[in-house]
Amino acid sequence: MRIGVDPTKCQGHARCYGLAPALFDLDEYGLSTVVGDGKVPGGLEDEARLAIANCPEYAISEVAEI
Ligand code: F3S
Repeated sequence: MRIGVDPTKCQGHARCYGLAPALFDLDEYGLSTVVGDGKVPGGLEDEARLAIANCPEYAISEVAEI
């Protein structure tokens, strides 16, 4: 599973980081990016899905594996 954050949609609500801190980084403005290339380590898929479901801006999505 691989995830991405759309920087044009993220408004810095930080729910992603609160729910799945291993999968997201927040920059100095509180905007989110995925850790590394967005590949979700085994066992963290549920956290990733929780983050996707809880972003109020629908900025997080599952993306195709490279
Ligand atoms: Fe941004 Fe959504 Fe996270 S708005 S900081 S991707 S909860």
